[in-house]
Amino acid sequence: MSTAKKEYKRVTVKSLVDMKKNGEKISMLTAYDYSMAKIVDNASVDVILVGDSASNVMAGHETTLPITLDQMIYHASSVIRAIDRALVVVDLPFGSYQSDPKEALRSAIRIMKESGAHAVKVEGGAEIKESVKRILAAGIPVMGHLGLTPQSIYKFGTYTVRAKEDVEAEKLKQDALLLEKLGCFGIVLEKIPANLTKEVSESLTIPTIGIGGGKHADGQVLVIHDLLGMTHEFNPRFLRRYMNLYEEMGNAISSYVKDVKSRDFPNDDEQY
Ligand code: KIV
Repeated sequence: MSTAKKEYKRVTVKSLVDMKKNGEKISMLTAYDYSMAKIVDNASVDVILVGDSASNVMAGHETTLPITLDQMIYHASSVIRAIDRALVVVDLPFGSYQSDPKEALRSAIRIMKESGAHAVKVEGGAEIKESVKRILAAGIPVMGHLGLTPQSIYKFGTYTVRAKEDVEAEKLKQDALLLEKLGCFGIVLEKIPANLTKEVSESLTIPTIGIGGGKHADGQVLVIHDLLGMTHEFNPRFLRRYMNLYEEMGNAISSYVKDVKSRDFPNDDEQY
């Protein structure tokens, strides 16, 4: 395994498989709008996920279920306009791919055509096999998502760690192998024990991307608002915050309010 980092001018689904082969960890972050995506892309993040977590952090919903295909396309097309290097993966939202493979394909085609995205992501394993097959057969790259799959939150009941018990862990391992066999180019593993991530990652040639899956995943993903500390009430163990923007932005905005109220802003140099 080499640790030398190859330069990727544009990251493709093939680059990700190469990175895994070369032992280079993959960085992935969410973005939902043009300005944030520009910053994330300039910082050389390999994969930008237009996640359905937009439903939570952009729209303020409690779950990811309400966001629509049209809304995902809006977010994705804003992100795409900002990108020079990253691979852009877009979540197929709840209800747009589970009921039948033809509808799944129609939804994936809309995302690719109307936003210009490079790939789609879906949650689940054997249950959505036919949908995954149909989308892949049309030449659209698919990323899987196993473990804690937020679109199934009402089935799980809580956001606690998944696949701690043998039966669920075994199903997850089988699902991961199935997704690879079908032709997926990567799999997100959310909130599962680190040892299970290790076992799954070692059993696959395609990369795993962890969020709360520990250090053995081939890459890591976080929600950008969490990494920057814009959200402050969400504090899972797996989250490393690199800034406290909730406080810093709040302080900046309070200073602006104070300056307007005190007539300090605008001053003579800040007017025409
Ligand atoms: O929607 C999202 O942001 C995601 C990540 C948490 C992996 O699916």
